[in-house]
Amino acid sequence: MELNHRPRRLRISEGMRRLVRETSVSVSDLIYPLFIVEGRGIKREIPSMPGVFHLSMDYFLRELEEVQKAGIPGVLLFGVPDQKDELGSEAYSENGIIQRALREAKKNYPELLLIADVCLCEYTSHGHCGMISNSMVMNDESVELIAKSALSYAQAGADIVAPSDMMDGRVKAIRSDLDKEGFKDTAIMAYSAKYASSFYGPFRDAAHSKPAFGDRKTYQMDYANINEAIREVRLDIEEGADIVMVKPAMAYLDVIREASQRFEVPLAAYHVSGEYSMIKAAAQNGWIDERGAAMEATTAIKRAGAKIIITYFAKQIAEWIK
Ligand code: PBG
Repeated sequence: MELNHRPRRLRISEGMRRLVRETSVSVSDLIYPLFIVEGRGIKREIPSMPGVFHLSMDYFLRELEEVQKAGIPGVLLFGVPDQKDELGSEAYSENGIIQRALREAKKNYPELLLIADVCLCEYTSHGHCGMISNSMVMNDESVELIAKSALSYAQAGADIVAPSDMMDGRVKAIRSDLDKEGFKDTAIMAYSAKYASSFYGPFRDAAHSKPAFGDRKTYQMDYANINEAIREVRLDIEEGADIVMVKPAMAYLDVIREASQRFEVPLAAYHVSGEYSMIKAAAQNGWIDERGAAMEATTAIKRAGAKIIITYFAKQIAEWIK
């Protein structure tokens, strides 16, 4: 048989495969999400997210030590407060759980990038991402509280604030409040194309943020849409976002691809709780190879066009690629 092309030549050995490999995940690409709870001495595994924990402040600081040692550039912080109310006031209280965590973290680990997720759903008694009136999530009223939260995280030491609420106009409001108060260097990573997704299920267990009524479809995006995602990303960039995000990741690689080709700002993708837990559960059952599947998923997210990958696998990946 005479063949001019033998693509298999370039796959013949690991050395050859390494030489021609187009994409590699670096520890510098990763962000590690953490869940902080009140109290002391608490490191409690989240049942639907094996290997992910609720951490009280003391364990949170120990975790930062490990993250820093692993060479991971930053952490994304979620607060799980004891007290929740209608207006999510713990989200923007000076002594809120995240504000305290940020101050401690900044003091002890000044080089780590501290990213504060900005949303009301972990703090409201009804679990929605904004203020409710007549069973509706109000946009402009919520934006005010969201901008107030972002400012208070910046004051507490956040390097980046990451609004994940999907209210209209929140990036602009956050930028304007930050600038007014002298936080010109605090960056905004906007959850720009955030879909109303079933893959957030385990996170809502972790954050106790399942909506008490209805769903998030009036503010998070319809998973059937991609043009709308491009529009959302464009709006956030125009409003002042420094980094934009697509979330979830695996079922939205086309959206990641499209956004990365159209826009010049760094693109993040969030490999969310459900995507993580599916791999974990299958691996625990012996149905899938955990390391192989996690590396394949993460590399695919990078290949699609994301520079920044937010993943619960971050620490393991850092270990695997060392
Ligand atoms: C807060 C928020 C959510 C996630 C990140 N920020 C949950 C939601 O929108 O319900 C999900 C992250 C994950 O599933 O890992 N709004």
